[in-house]
Amino acid sequence: MKRIFSGVQPTGNLHLGNYLGAIRNFVRLQEEFDCIYCVVDLHAITVAQDPAELTHNTREVTAAFLAAGIDPRKNIILNQSRNPDHAELAWIFNCIARLGWLNRMTQFKEKAGKHRENASVGLYAYPILMAADILAYKATHVPVGEDQKQHLELCRDIAQKFNHDYGREVFPITEPLIFGAATRVMSLRDGTNKMSKSDPSDYSRINMTDDRDTVALKIRKAKTDPEVLPGPDSLADGLLPPEVEATRPEAFNLLAIYAALADKDFADVLAEFEGKEFSFFKTVLTDLAVSVLGPIGGEMQRLLADPDYVDDILRDGAERARAITQPVIDEVMDVVGLLRS
Ligand code: TYM
Repeated sequence: MKRIFSGVQPTGNLHLGNYLGAIRNFVRLQEEFDCIYCVVDLHAITVAQDPAELTHNTREVTAAFLAAGIDPRKNIILNQSRNPDHAELAWIFNCIARLGWLNRMTQFKEKAGKHRENASVGLYAYPILMAADILAYKATHVPVGEDQKQHLELCRDIAQKFNHDYGREVFPITEPLIFGAATRVMSLRDGTNKMSKSDPSDYSRINMTDDRDTVALKIRKAKTDPEVLPGPDSLADGLLPPEVEATRPEAFNLLAIYAALADKDFADVLAEFEGKEFSFFKTVLTDLAVSVLGPIGGEMQRLLADPDYVDDILRDGAERARAITQPVIDEVMDVVGLLRS
């Protein structure tokens, strides 16, 4: 049986990258699979969070899931801290994962920056908790954006080592699902940097709750270059070679965003806008972005006005989640030799 698990941090500023790289794919997968979608509040506190904002942001991510079209009855939506099995399994995995594995994680290096000694232990162990999130459900597939690939490799390593060390096939070797035309949406201000919740400039990203005027302004101000838009001859075997992308990162990023929002093939989009001016393209892109994100942002605001409804969804989700993870935890405790009964 295939089981999907994925998570989004409640750290504010949910943006177009989160939507196109992850949340929209969550919606598409729910028809076919058994899905668990988690608001990972314990991951959020690996860097300092204002408590009231954390609560608000947890509801906001939940509202984004619902507004994007995830059905909370067919699937499970929960916040991570409400199912203690995630944190419990993470401890076991702390004892499986090796320091050398964590030392290779590029996201920790980026996030800790120059102040590595000052980063929380939680930030360092972040990918171990991710592995516990996934494997507590024995999830087989994990839809994510490109930036999570390395963390998912670590999850596979942990599963493999656990199974090997205890000589039992307890955990599946999880497959990442990275798909769509925008698996790595870049900043609107700098096409070589990923669009991110933590970028200090709000002009770097389109937020899921931005209104029409804000989307229009951000796209109008988005960095471009002096040339007209490139065509399909930029591609080699249907793919954009990195060295070609590097020559005009902002142009290709905006075109990829358009392709993802329009649900069109990247090659077709290149053909459609070849030789056009950015000013024209930006107007079309604005209309498209507003037509896709506008209704979702509106529905998010409506849901956030009713926090009790949102909280009920999370409570119900956590109960159903725990019914799945408890037998897995029992099995793990037994395999490891920890007396529980
Ligand atoms: P978070 O909240 O940073 O990101 C949530 C999802 O959005 C994707 N994403 C992007 N996709 C395309 N372009 C971008 N610029 C962009 N920025 C973010 C991320 O790849 C992610 O899929 N560590 C996870 C949360 C997590 C998790 C898990 C995921 C915790 N436990 C277990 C999967 C399975 C994260 O990056 O959250």
